[in-house]
Amino acid sequence: MTDNLIRFTRGVPANESFSVELLSSFASEAIKKYSPSVLQYADARGFPPLRELLAKENRVTHERIILGQGSLHLLDIITQIVTKPGDLIFTENPSYDRALTIMKRRGCRLTGIPLEADGLGVNKVEERLKLGDRPKFFYIIPDFQNPSGSVLSMEKRKTVLKLAAKYAFLIIEDSPYYRLRYRGESIPSLFDLAPDRVLHMSSYSKLISPGLRVGYVIAPATMADPIAKWAEDTYINNSYINHAIAFEFQISGSLEKQICFLKELYLPRLDAMLNALDRSLKTCSTWTAPDGGFFIGVTLSRNIKADDLLTQAQKAGLQLTDGRNFFTDGSGDRFVRLPFCALTSAEITEGILRLSKVINQIC
Ligand SMILES: Cc1ncc(COP(=O)(O)O)c(C=O)c1O
Repeated sequence: MTDNLIRFTRGVPANESFSVELLSSFASEAIKKYSPSVLQYADARGFPPLRELLAKENRVTHERIILGQGSLHLLDIITQIVTKPGDLIFTENPSYDRALTIMKRRGCRLTGIPLEADGLGVNKVEERLKLGDRPKFFYIIPDFQNPSGSVLSMEKRKTVLKLAAKYAFLIIEDSPYYRLRYRGESIPSLFDLAPDRVLHMSSYSKLISPGLRVGYVIAPATMADPIAKWAEDTYINNSYINHAIAFEFQISGSLEKQICFLKELYLPRLDAMLNALDRSLKTCSTWTAPDGGFFIGVTLSRNIKADDLLTQAQKAGLQLTDGRNFFTDGSGDRFVRLPFCALTSAEITEGILRLSKVINQIC
């Protein structure tokens, strides 16, 4: 094995993206400015000034905003509240592996709707509904999806919302990459299009730092109280200090500057990945080129076993995530998720070269 292992495994922000000095000063500021409330036990919904800010931004009442220990924890709570074991959930196929784990752990049945270049296959959704499937919710990552990078088109957003209204199911929109568009125009979120039918989740993890563990949900009015009660009975409240740091970061104007900085940092890495894929993997795979986010999902056109790919890649100095983890039905042998934000352009180019050699060697 080569000593300089390249890790195409974790969808994390680049270490060099963290504004260490600013965060240190906001941490100190937050404790001084908001003590004793940030040092005390508090309401489970989270630090009120940040909830009010998010409510104003999203044109909802602050009662509908609940801050969580990251957004993933909120998804766990919501899954516990909305479903019981045996219930059906629709997801995209592939989808975010940890979200799938949460739903499987609850004992839910998952129907994965295949992804197309412009997002989930809405015809398949309608087919399943006409056959009588009634999901408790549809978990969708419409923007720069984890793991594929795909974006749900405007037309499909409208179609899926119409289906949700017709067949009365809730949509959970998980959108932590929405602001990380490096080129092109943003599309309105599902929540923007149907604020009462969609439960919207997002997070400061990819924008400021996952170490803060600050995420949030905009819940339908009827669900906010049960979520808050579950949260209170589980952990009382999350860290108000961290909420206050995120709040100060945002109201000082640093968040907008940070997002501009992230776009400048990540766009060349996205292009390095796209160029390397074009050079080395064009003959044996397909992918959808995203304009933002953290990932490109590659589907290999040759028959391959995930175990062989992972083992041979490791020997060639390349760490890959098992593609099967992202699928609801055990498929995914030929799927490779390639995160590009936390690697330099040189590492990306070298990593893709190693990947193409491994594929050519085992197929
Ligand atoms: C789609 C999606 N949702 C949620 C999360 C977790 O976010 P958080 O750090 O806010 O828990 C991730 C992290 O990779 C993600 O890709």
